[in-house]
Amino acid sequence: MLQKVCLSNGTLNVRDEGSGEPILFVHGFPLSHQMWEAQITALSSRYRCIAPDLRGFGESTVTPGFVGMDQMATDLSALLVALQVESPVTLCGLSMGGYVAWQFWKLHRGQLGRLILCDTRAIADTPEAREQRWQAAERVERDGPGFLADAMLPRLYCQATRTGRPGLVEAARQQIEHNPPQGIAAAARGMAIRPDVTDWLPEIQVPALLITGEEDAISSVGEMKSIADALPQARQVVIVQAGHMAPEEQPDAVNAAILKFLQQ
Ligand code: MLT
Repeated sequence: MLQKVCLSNGTLNVRDEGSGEPILFVHGFPLSHQMWEAQITALSSRYRCIAPDLRGFGESTVTPGFVGMDQMATDLSALLVALQVESPVTLCGLSMGGYVAWQFWKLHRGQLGRLILCDTRAIADTPEAREQRWQAAERVERDGPGFLADAMLPRLYCQATRTGRPGLVEAARQQIEHNPPQGIAAAARGMAIRPDVTDWLPEIQVPALLITGEEDAISSVGEMKSIADALPQARQVVIVQAGHMAPEEQPDAVNAAILKFLQQ
């Protein structure tokens, strides 16, 4: 079921399917909840799958200017309360969804049972990357998200996906182009000033699964291995023939890894 959930300072659009232990799916940048279609289809017969559009994306409220990862985490905490989710969730976040997951642990850890971190990073942006994000934010506000789709799609999907599954890449383009420019820009600025959380990792005492596309051009297998090594209870699964969007590119392999982790 798709619904709009009112929070104290905005509305989140959320897909809520199935019943059982809750899994909160948090999408990457600059996408929407739609990227989790294959996981919801496979897992909602056994789990409650909750997949919101983050603030600024899809059909959720746009807050122009700047939205931090901490704000997004607090939105998710309030969303779970509004949906009457009482048990700790498994938070499954991809890339920016992972940046939000670190903040969710920091601010709302009583609501967190387990982490699934897909193709994400713990370090902050370099000064150059921060500057590029700032410029991209201004350009999105001025020209719309088309140029961002052109720049990002080749980095999100591996070569085999781009040639073999053009429909998947096209669907991502539509998600990006459908997103409100001011929402994309606000999140880009929020990512630009996100902190380095490397020092937090040894304290994150929840079971964690790290999923990495073997050909991820943004968060490499080696970089995610160092996150897995620093977390107290983590293991990494590398997904072959996948890039940054491993859950979409190889849904069967990713879903099998998630199910194995959840059933342990
Ligand atoms: C994402 O997939 O969320 C983005 O690649 C994250 C980023 O740009 O750092």
